[in-house]
Amino acid sequence: CGIIGYVGPRQSQSILLAGLARLEYRGYDSAGVAVIDADGGLGMRKRAGKLAVLRDDLVEHPLSDGTTGIGHTRWATHGGPTDSNAHPHLADDDKLAVIHNGIIENFSELKAELVSDGYTFLSQTDTEVAAVLIGREYRRTGDLVAAFRAVVSRLEGAYTLLAMHQDHPGLVVGARRNSPLVIGLGDGENFLGSDVAAFVEHTRHALAIGQDEIVAITPSGVEVTDFAGAPVEVEPFEVTWDASAAEKGGWSSFMAKEVSEEPDAVSNTLRGRLHDGAVVIPELEGLDDLFRDVSRVIVIACGTAAYAGQVGKYALEQWTRVPVDVELAHEFRYRDPVLGPDTLVVSISQSGETMDTLMAVKYARERGAKTLSICNTQGATIPRESDAVVYTHAGPEVAVASTKAFVAQITALYLFGLHVARLRGSLSPVEIADHVVELEAVPGKIAQILEREQPRIEQFAHWMADTRSVLFLGRHVGFPIAMEGALKLKELAYIHAEGFAAGELKHGPIALIEAGQPVFVIVPSPRGSGELHRKVISSIEEISARGARVIAIAEEGDAAVLPQADEVLRIPLAGPLFEPLLAVVPLHIFAMGLATAKGLDVDQPRNLAKSVTVE
Ligand code: G6P
Repeated sequence: CGIIGYVGPRQSQSILLAGLARLEYRGYDSAGVAVIDADGGLGMRKRAGKLAVLRDDLVEHPLSDGTTGIGHTRWATHGGPTDSNAHPHLADDDKLAVIHNGIIENFSELKAELVSDGYTFLSQTDTEVAAVLIGREYRRTGDLVAAFRAVVSRLEGAYTLLAMHQDHPGLVVGARRNSPLVIGLGDGENFLGSDVAAFVEHTRHALAIGQDEIVAITPSGVEVTDFAGAPVEVEPFEVTWDASAAEKGGWSSFMAKEVSEEPDAVSNTLRGRLHDGAVVIPELEGLDDLFRDVSRVIVIACGTAAYAGQVGKYALEQWTRVPVDVELAHEFRYRDPVLGPDTLVVSISQSGETMDTLMAVKYARERGAKTLSICNTQGATIPRESDAVVYTHAGPEVAVASTKAFVAQITALYLFGLHVARLRGSLSPVEIADHVVELEAVPGKIAQILEREQPRIEQFAHWMADTRSVLFLGRHVGFPIAMEGALKLKELAYIHAEGFAAGELKHGPIALIEAGQPVFVIVPSPRGSGELHRKVISSIEEISARGARVIAIAEEGDAAVLPQADEVLRIPLAGPLFEPLLAVVPLHIFAMGLATAKGLDVDQPRNLAKSVTVE
């Protein structure tokens, strides 16, 4: 869910709605705002559906505006996406408004207790239970911060809660436990947001709040305390991008814009970290001991980030000779993994807030492992909970399906791999320099693919709009790319898609091949391992003999694919480990093209949210 709060001299509704529009990728099945108006009354409006539904409603039936407000865009957990389950939820005779992100796990017990005390509820949500509890405490003391303090200790689970009370205009109170919340510092006004996108239009000065802290903002000040009430220091940071970076510009969708930014995502991630053929990661300065002596790396992530991790595994192992495992964060944590001080757990997360990944990082730390975060979002929780962080500099990613962050994640992993290889002496400076040359060439090569192949791929996706199933085959680093291609098609176009290791074909998946079945095949370069190339060509022969329609992604000049492939999408020449950064681009374009041809919303696919802050 996305959360925003505002206090200051300005009328808040348009600020809240603009902030919610930039947070909508966090959830978009309902939205709502509450405002304390000039007469001191609390007004609230909430609607099921995308933000546009709420916006239209407010145009038709205006809500009296005011200078203190909160807003919410929801991704449903407890209670379906209906008007009444949308946030805010009111309590204390409709004088208190509360919004929430997360899941309060013990809400049924708390609700039962409140029901037996005579309270009634209008929704099925866990949030309303928190609202009623805060309202009840507020009545006792008349102090909203004290009411929060009394209630948070009773809530189990993960949450960010924001509240305001009509008796206290100019005050918004928030609390967080394992869910995101940052403060935006304005001039005579202050903001709270799930992330900086909520307020970046107004200020780039921000404060990161730690876990289990309560914050109260007024137009002139910010106070942060722990759950027991003791003041805590907060960490200031500057947002490095401006609001225009999170806007669509002239593009048809955020995804189209973000795919076009894939070359920049790579070059910005490299920037400042390459010097005369060597890799220097300033953020990791002074941490050599942390990485030199590790005997094992476990990469944890979810979704697309996990595929970036799988690509990274090949390079990391080859360059550092340290064994690398890649695991889905939610599986890792529940299998009692073997961890110790010589284990390095590398998490990858665009948002830095994915709850499954965050919980796995905490788990790893508690069990003594070292932790490194690869993250795209400043001030996010996962980097704060880790021993070290290497930021990807892909810029804000808004479309739910991750594209430019994916190539930036692979780039960051490669930089990290080369950094460790230097520390451990597993690669010579000359070998490192060769890889650096390859990395530096990637942005230009991605730009070439976009320029030369995008229109063709889109046309081709258009012709395939009725396709009901697509398979993807890859080998070595092409295997995770095949899975990423399939994931994108599921997410965006809602069609059955699966990625397989090409070598596994004969062990089962080949039974799926029938006449006309489209299969994308990622063909490794014949200049790398000739053997791998030959094997993948054999796979193409096996499936095309059974009637598959083969779309090959192959490097320029590779003629071996021509006899069997129905279509060939060309990528520029690159070293074997750098091919995935190129081969994935046609797959991103294809999924976007096919979803667009089906008339679907590529930025906000059904049932999904970009940042899944619940487990
Ligand atoms: C969600 C998104 C995916 C994303 C995954 C991990 O499932 O829909 O696109 O890959 O979360 O997100 P993260 O922010 O941790 O990279």
